Amino acid sequence: MTRVLVTGGAGFIGSEFVRSMLRTRPLDRVTVFDKLTYSGVRQNLAEVADHPRFSFVLGDICDPVAVDQVMAGQDAVVNFAAESHVDRSIRGAEDFVRTNVMGTQVLLDAALRHRVGRFVQVSTDEVYGSIDRGSWTERQPLAPNSPYAASKAGADLLALACHRTHGLDVVVTRCSNNYGPYQFPEKVIPLFTTRLLNGRSVPLYGDGRNVRDWLHVQDHGRALALVLDRGRAGEVYHIGGGTEISNRELTDLLLTALDADPGLVERVPDRKGHDRRYSLDTEKIRTELGFEPRIPFTDGLAQTISWYRDHRDWWEPLLERAALE
Ligand SMILES: NC(=O)c1ccc[n+]([C@@H]2O[C@H](COP(=O)([O-])OP(=O)(O)OC[C@H]3O[C@@H](n4cnc5c(N)ncnc54)[C@H](O)[C@@H]3O)[C@@H](O)[C@H]2O)c1
Repeated sequence: MTRVLVTGGAGFIGSEFVRSMLRTRPLDRVTVFDKLTYSGVRQNLAEVADHPRFSFVLGDICDPVAVDQVMAGQDAVVNFAAESHVDRSIRGAEDFVRTNVMGTQVLLDAALRHRVGRFVQVSTDEVYGSIDRGSWTERQPLAPNSPYAASKAGADLLALACHRTHGLDVVVTRCSNNYGPYQFPEKVIPLFTTRLLNGRSVPLYGDGRNVRDWLHVQDHGRALALVLDRGRAGEVYHIGGGTEISNRELTDLLLTALDADPGLVERVPDRKGHDRRYSLDTEKIRTELGFEPRIPFTDGLAQTISWYRDHRDWWEPLLERAALE
């Protein structure tokens, strides 16, 4: 029996990970610890709410007392808890530093105290900045551009330092852009999909030529389970989908899939400091852990669009929360 603490498990990726863990790993007990910020949704965990091996604890990873209590008796931690939206970090970075940096340190300290056997820090390709050609390996120096990416880079470095200084069994994963069901409707795919479903315009940043690599959230979850089980302590693993497309191309795919008027695309001034391209070299996780993404982007995107079409009851109440103040 492994007891796994999943922080931020009521969010998009964390909740997929929890649902999948409980489905596929009959010996694991899962505790979600989540503050339920604007992007944390209890309903994301409705499917497992009554599961005998699941429990939910409401709390803030920056609260050392609450974290200490929930950490007692855990064998492993997978830390998803974060402020995760770049645009919000540009408007104000304080919550990002608090949760992403300080909260991660609170978790690391508690994991050390309770002799937790494994700590997976879930991170992002955005910590490397932007790359015009080629791909980053895990040895690439960090050069984040947004406050979000800088706060995630800080957390990665604290986690790795905790391994080197104190010997905590830490593994860091850096993943490319995720998409799939239950993604909060502020991120580009659910934002554009829900707006087009409502016949509204979609705001495309700058010239639309920023390139992102897309990975289905279920593939991310499978990769994280492999890292949890077999990743080497003190190492960083890249997780990528191998599907690089520009935001303009993505927008066209969504317009076509939803049979929407191309005139609904509204060019808006570029995001400040907008990274041009992210690209991860994923050789290490493929050769060491045998990970390959399984869901082709076109299939995953079609399935995701259908999910949003069929789950208005999930996203309509969130639209107000998604609007930037
Ligand atoms: N979405 C992506 O494309 C992507 C890509 C790579 C890495 N990541 C990383 O994956 C993780 C999860 O991302 P997501 O897209 O699911 O984000 P999300 O915003 O959907 O979920 C974040 C969750 O963390 C919780 N949370 C926030 N602050 C907290 C705090 N102080 N204490 C406890 N819980 C708190 C929220 O309530 C929410 O449930 C993040 O660490 C993010 O940096 C995301």
